Amino acid sequence: MSDVRINPSILSADFVNMERDLQRIGNADFVHVDIMDNNFVPNLTFGPQMTQRVQETSPVPLDVHLMINDCDTWAPKYAELGVASVTFHVEATSDPVATARRVRDIGARAGVALRPGTDAEFLYDILDEFDQILVMTVEPGFGGQSFRPDTMPKLSALAAHARSVGSDVWLQVDGGINIDTIAIAAEHGADTFVAGSAVFGAADPDEAIVTLRGLGAAAYHRHSHD
Ligand code: DX5
Ligand code: ZN
Repeated sequence: MSDVRINPSILSADFVNMERDLQRIGNADFVHVDIMDNNFVPNLTFGPQMTQRVQETSPVPLDVHLMINDCDTWAPKYAELGVASVTFHVEATSDPVATARRVRDIGARAGVALRPGTDAEFLYDILDEFDQILVMTVEPGFGGQSFRPDTMPKLSALAAHARSVGSDVWLQVDGGINIDTIAIAAEHGADTFVAGSAVFGAADPDEAIVTLRGLGAAAYHRHSHD
């Protein structure tokens, strides 16, 4: 039986009350940190300096999601901050395997992310190179968008393949995950869930995490992806 993970995205936190908001999600599995460069995506967030302070302040390990160009250069730099996980977009790397190996060598988990329009088949023969695959369920760039069900066939095919070869890679979804959609993603094989507005928009973020984890775990195990 494998557990599911809930990773709140601080994109939906209050940026000038970050320490307070990090304390509000103390029961999360990871804190999801969205790095955007106003180039790979049309939005800008923060960089290594802010990530370093979040890392020093958060009681929960960091799951960094790079939505920036030139991930071959930047992914290892984020790993060197000591974060638990670095996920970079395949569309922003020229050599995903080499970059993932560098991230792992530094000591972080290595993840690769796919935009909604990017196929996953190229990963089938190289699953072992990654600790996590992020199937984006919105076009990356902004919180608060609607979950895209059209990304589910890609996720379920990937999950079926990963099971068939006995892979223990985590399958993450990000975008529009809330109490209405988390079961859909879990039924299609996701085990790791990013949620921004659904957690920080709730009156009690800790309670929202417990609710999402329960719904995700029930749907995941109902469809016996163990
Ligand atoms: C979008 C980011 C997400 C975002 C999710 O590009 O990668 O992590 O914060 O926000 P919600 O859960 O509100 O869709
Ligand atoms: Zn993200």
